[in-house]
Amino acid sequence: MNVSLPVLDRVEAGDREEFREAVLAGLSRTPRAIPPKFLYDARGSELFDAICELPEYYLTRTETGILADCTPELARLAGPGCALVEFGSGSSVKTRLLLDAMPNLAAYVPIDISRHHLDATAARLRRDYPGLRVEPVCADYMALEALPADVNGAPRLGFFPGSTIGNLEPHEATAFLRRARTLLGDRGAMVLGVDLRKVPQRLHDAYNDSAGVTAAFTLNLLRRMNRELDATFDLARFAHDAFYNPLEGRIEIYFRSLAVQSVAVAGRIFTFAEGERVHTEYSYKYDDAGIAALAKSAGFTIDRTWTDPARLFAVVYLETAP
Ligand SMILES: C[S@@+](CC[C@H](N)C(=O)[O-])C[C@H]1O[C@@H](n2cnc3c(N)ncnc32)[C@H](O)[C@@H]1O
Repeated sequence: MNVSLPVLDRVEAGDREEFREAVLAGLSRTPRAIPPKFLYDARGSELFDAICELPEYYLTRTETGILADCTPELARLAGPGCALVEFGSGSSVKTRLLLDAMPNLAAYVPIDISRHHLDATAARLRRDYPGLRVEPVCADYMALEALPADVNGAPRLGFFPGSTIGNLEPHEATAFLRRARTLLGDRGAMVLGVDLRKVPQRLHDAYNDSAGVTAAFTLNLLRRMNRELDATFDLARFAHDAFYNPLEGRIEIYFRSLAVQSVAVAGRIFTFAEGERVHTEYSYKYDDAGIAALAKSAGFTIDRTWTDPARLFAVVYLETAP
């Protein structure tokens, strides 16, 4: 009998296989590392939303304040009738500032890897913006080949807020922006949210909050491996480890083993030394020269940069270089 699975189930089976392969490869190499996109299962996305509310996590508040001030100008630069394409859209909260300032959008295309969160967000947006065409795409934005066909014809405005660009290593950030430039087309533009270099203590506090939400976000990856890959991580025997590396200009995040221990993952045994770290995420911090070099490396020119008075964060309007 030929039993065909519903589309969603087939996709999720594929997601799980990709997760299994990435984890087994990441734990088999030295130093160990698991790609950051796997932090965002449904619970990870909820925890990220909670991080955005933390007093120490100045990024969301600051970027939202900048956007609240600059959206009228941004809407004027983009012009009417464009399709807004958001990469790593999460809960699309800041996006609402753009949606409110740009009532004549051809469509809104939120792209995110976190399927359930994306579906729930799209449903909320359709309810709150009944006149808006919402076209969610569940995909890895590092590998996306095309946008939905029905946004063809409209100029495209990309949106990549949240300092998500900082999670990419410099060569990945260039590759991402080049891909985005192709997807957005010759008339396309891009709004980028970038966290700026600052006093290390401020950065350290943002990724080591006193309520332990960022730690829960990191350790949720172990929970996900236990649930999806039959792993046997004891969360009490691992810790979140985040610090600023001034030479590289980045926050580095790991989970660290608190003892010598062996853990089963997808039928294989991995032994961790006491103090051994497994890398989960970077968050690169940029200065003006770094932003300019990044834009240039991907064929964009910087049209406008907005910052908060303390210069904690920057929102940059990029246009495709002729
Ligand atoms: C740092 S959060 C930012 C969320 C939101 N844009 C904001 O500014 O608050 C990163 C978002 O990107 C998504 N994401 C991470 N890696 C991704 C990838 N490779 N492809 C697509 N989405 C990804 C996550 O699921 C998450 O929603």
